[in-house]
Amino acid sequence: MSAKKLLVATGGGDCPGLNAVIRGIVKRAARESENGRNWEVWGSMEAFKGIMDDPLRLIRLDGGATSGIHVRGGTIIKTTNKGNPMAYPEKQADGTFKEVDKIPWLVDRMKSQGFEAVVNIGGDGSQAISQALHEAGMPVIGVPKTIDNDLGATDFTFGFQTAVQTATDAFDRLVTTANSHHRVMIMEVMGRNAGWIALYTAIAGGAEICLIPEIPYDIDVVVKRIRERYNDGRGFVNIVVAEGAFAKEGSVTAGEGELGRDAVRLGGVAYTLSEQLKSAGVEADIRETVLGHIQRGGIPIAYDRVLASVFGVKAFELVLDGKYGEMVVLKNNSFTSVPLAKAIADYNYVDPEGTLVNAAKGLGISFGI
Ligand code: F6P
Repeated sequence: MSAKKLLVATGGGDCPGLNAVIRGIVKRAARESENGRNWEVWGSMEAFKGIMDDPLRLIRLDGGATSGIHVRGGTIIKTTNKGNPMAYPEKQADGTFKEVDKIPWLVDRMKSQGFEAVVNIGGDGSQAISQALHEAGMPVIGVPKTIDNDLGATDFTFGFQTAVQTATDAFDRLVTTANSHHRVMIMEVMGRNAGWIALYTAIAGGAEICLIPEIPYDIDVVVKRIRERYNDGRGFVNIVVAEGAFAKEGSVTAGEGELGRDAVRLGGVAYTLSEQLKSAGVEADIRETVLGHIQRGGIPIAYDRVLASVFGVKAFELVLDGKYGEMVVLKNNSFTSVPLAKAIADYNYVDPEGTLVNAAKGLGISFGI
């Protein structure tokens, strides 16, 4: 009996747990053969580039190819956050690039290759592509991924808890040096415009100060908190700052853009903050650590392996049910799905008045306000 073909893609920044989702899809698909329904799962290399390229770059994802990959970081089918098919940078005769909508062409391409459906694993940008493919007539299921945890439709995205664990381990090491040298240690974490990684790490690590994008900080208040700590005899301070944080009268610290990339590159706020503190008269030695991609790498912790594996199984079951145009989510402790259109419109930011921020304040953590 001929097999149905399913395409899987991973898009955007990599994230611990991507491989566990892929394995979950493949394992669940294999169970169907017990019922006489055969499915072939294929991976498109580097998001949709693999199916867009000539020659095609697709790999067969079967039991052998996916065996044991749930414990591995990254993605065996690679990823990219460039070359969005909704605005694909196509080189013109004069050497310039023009953004072209390749979605209708991509749908034809997938269908002509015999793909019944596609599971797209990615964050907000990737799920906007999922929605565009769905509107253009391609049966699509989305799976939410990002260490930033900034998708409102799901309680957690996989990868987030691993990033928090990695950041907390790094924080613990920095406390040692802050203490020994009476220093102010600033640790910058990722998260784009959401402060979740910073907030969780500050609580888990026991930071004195936590600066997040949702609460623009007042540098004088930050300085006051640092002085209190030195005056009460503790003599050292640990700060966690989210890469998207900024001062009340300031703006985010961002780098250069890159060709074919939608989002601005954040990073370096630890140095901005350090300068601001020095200008405001902080005399203690200040050291900056930008944790960067260490937060995205390495093996997923058990929580993320479970979340990702269940998301994979659930995604394939949505394919079986023909529930296309949906994204798998964990909502109120239940694995379910929501329309992609809702998923991409609904962001998850830290609530400045929420219970977690209040609890952090109760622990003595200052948000610089
Ligand atoms: O969205 C995940 C993320 O790691 C963000 O936290 C960060 O701002 C961004 O990706 C970094 O992207 P890149 O790996 O392209 O520098």
